[in-house]
Amino acid sequence: MDVINVRSDTQTLPTPAMRLAIANAALGDDTYDEDPTVHEFESLAAEMLGKEAALLVISGTMGNLSALMAHGSPGDEVLLDPESHIFYYEAGGLAGVAGLMPLPVASRRGLLDPADVAAALRPPDIHYPKSRLLCLENTHNRSGGRVTPLALHRELCQLAHDRGLKVHLDGARIFNAAIAAGCSAADYARDVDSIQVCLSKGLGCPLGSFVAGSRQLIDQVDRARKRLGGGMRQAGVIAAAGIYALKNNVARLADDHRRARRLAVQLHELPGLSIDLQCVETNMVYVDHQATGMSSDQFAHRLQAAGIIVSTRPPHQVRMCTHLHHSDEVIDELVARVERVLRRETARR
Ligand SMILES: Cc1ncc(COP(=O)(O)O)c(C=O)c1O
Repeated sequence: MDVINVRSDTQTLPTPAMRLAIANAALGDDTYDEDPTVHEFESLAAEMLGKEAALLVISGTMGNLSALMAHGSPGDEVLLDPESHIFYYEAGGLAGVAGLMPLPVASRRGLLDPADVAAALRPPDIHYPKSRLLCLENTHNRSGGRVTPLALHRELCQLAHDRGLKVHLDGARIFNAAIAAGCSAADYARDVDSIQVCLSKGLGCPLGSFVAGSRQLIDQVDRARKRLGGGMRQAGVIAAAGIYALKNNVARLADDHRRARRLAVQLHELPGLSIDLQCVETNMVYVDHQATGMSSDQFAHRLQAAGIIVSTRPPHQVRMCTHLHHSDEVIDELVARVERVLRRETARR
């Protein structure tokens, strides 16, 4: 078997059927609003999320940033988890490009506590920045793909709205969350003012994301996207993959979740490894290898030599993600390879 790549769910290649959809797409100049495939995609995306409008963007980062720019003005305050993707991994665009001020509110392993959000909010006062926005992330990447239960999600949105804030949801993997929670993505989208959804993660597209919200908000997001250089021409080539993914690759995410659990349970049995099985709710497995004595880099190198590619979460974790290129056989082969690596390491020491 070839190299097993579980570094991220962004590592998929478009399938032959998706490539065919891309090749056959009707195209036009989207900056002139003339690409029929983009129109079709944006209608479908808005409908699936139960929102008035949607806008295709290049990436999740651009979707989040353009939504933040639409919601706030420089100096306004945004409440968000310091472990969120927007805070941790988006190159400071929140502050550096949108000019917004982050007010970090730590989640508890991916789940924000409404009491912590309420405590962080201050009354309007000339001394304080204007609190504009609460950002949520579901599933929560750095907490292992954890799902915010719908009831908690609603409570957080209600609290923010009662205090005059808007809510943006980084729903890069919202379909994973919805499937794991047994509800629809629209159930999560209902209570937020904007949502960003990635096509290039478990949905298997080579690129693309979308932002959904009210028509009025999406018009502002469109302007922000343009300002960021994200206006596109024959973007139907991206939208065609997106249509294919929304129609064919959503329900199958349940297979990725089942395989992630199978992987987690088997790895947890191996000497030196431990996994917080409670946190394995979707397609990610955070493997704690502290007991092996290896650093994350050392463990990842050993795995790479055995034909397994992971991402590191120093000091003593690696992350594995399941996606549409992984069958049950791939998962079993992966576990067998890890077991051999650990056996060799024990013999070496
Ligand atoms: C939760 C979350 N939000 C946003 C993004 C950004 O997506 P992109 O890499 O397309 O910019 C990612 C990417 O991994 C993510 O995991």
